[in-house]
Amino acid sequence: MVADRWFESVAVAQRRARRRLPRSVYRALVAGSERGATMDDNVAAFAELGLAPTVAGQPPSRELATTLMGQPISFPVVVSPTGVQAVHPDGEVAIARAAASRGVAAGLSSFASRPVEEVVAANPKTFFQLYWSGSRDDIARRIERARAAGCVGMIATLDWSFATARDWGSPYIPERLDVRAALRLAPEAIARPAWLWSYLRTGTLPELTVPNMAGPGQPAPSFFGAYGEWMQTPPPTWDDVAWMVATWRGPFMLKGVIRVDDAKRAVDAGVSAISVSNHGGNNLDGTPATVRALPAVARAVGDRVEVVLDGGVRRGSDVVKAMALGARAVMVGRAPLWGLAANGRAGVENVLDVLRAGIDSTLRGIGRSSVHELSEDDVVVPAGFFRQLG
Ligand SMILES: Cc1cc2nc3c(=O)[nH]c(=O)nc-3n(C[C@H](O)[C@H](O)[C@H](O)COP(=O)(O)O)c2cc1C
Repeated sequence: MVADRWFESVAVAQRRARRRLPRSVYRALVAGSERGATMDDNVAAFAELGLAPTVAGQPPSRELATTLMGQPISFPVVVSPTGVQAVHPDGEVAIARAAASRGVAAGLSSFASRPVEEVVAANPKTFFQLYWSGSRDDIARRIERARAAGCVGMIATLDWSFATARDWGSPYIPERLDVRAALRLAPEAIARPAWLWSYLRTGTLPELTVPNMAGPGQPAPSFFGAYGEWMQTPPPTWDDVAWMVATWRGPFMLKGVIRVDDAKRAVDAGVSAISVSNHGGNNLDGTPATVRALPAVARAVGDRVEVVLDGGVRRGSDVVKAMALGARAVMVGRAPLWGLAANGRAGVENVLDVLRAGIDSTLRGIGRSSVHELSEDDVVVPAGFFRQLG
């Protein structure tokens, strides 16, 4: 890694990403929906939570390793599935290599730009992420492809409600990179020579297809083609959830759960893990920060399934706070994307190192020797902080 490319925090990585990426690509990663209230609250809620430091007698070393969905991970962070079109030529493969080098698992989006087979080769601890799109046969084919590729877990993301309008406007994303699209995007791309060079050097153009939405041997559909199919698919029932669990026959996470009643139904449907998530605030705006809803969900399911927290994590102390409030681990979406944009694979490793070091120093600061001994007593929670939904 080039020393001066190293960054000390996720916020610095985000500023670099903003300077390096064409405006449309950067804005696609900022994402959010409607007035952005949920997206902002995910981050703001962590700042409301405090910590109580201790000054002597702390344990000399700290245990960070754990397991999730049967996979040993060297610290309690998992990369959330995100489509990373146009951020970096290596895309999801760079994220997978970084995750593997730091000993953590990563989700791979159905809308990823790189085929699942290449990504699993880079990181065997890959969980494939499914949307409920198309017929049961289409979905079964995608599940079989993920299994054949060697994925070790399945994540079903079911909280998407197609609420994508934003008060600050959405970036232009072309259907395909034809001459018209290239001309329209050229001024932005030319203004970001380092990003442009990263593609020119590899002789590739940003990939706008979604290869993992195809079954084995089928051609990759376009992003918009796959999105259209998904929009026209009727929402899944709880029977469909149980069917996905039974079809996969392995560790299965339901992502997007924030209500207690949904969490209980998910347990009944046979899932092995729940991700308390609101899609990073990109979806139904006005839902509370996930960390506010986490303790009620964790209490409701007890130790019947594993519970992870997804949304708003930007630093190691956020991970410790989420674990103190009942999460077994956290998932991070934007943080690794900022790292990828800032410095490719090394940037993603940098983000993971920042999180790991932050978890360790927070444990030291509060006098805990392990991520496994955290409890609500370790955080200072302001009155009225929690939300119990359903
Ligand atoms: C640009 C972008 C693309 C995303 N794509 C997907 C996706 O394809 N599948 C999915 O399950 N979640 C997707 N998400 C949601 C993330 O998996 C995750 O829930 C969210 O980013 C967590 O919030 P955080 O970014 O504050 O960490 C996406 C999020 C972003 C920002």
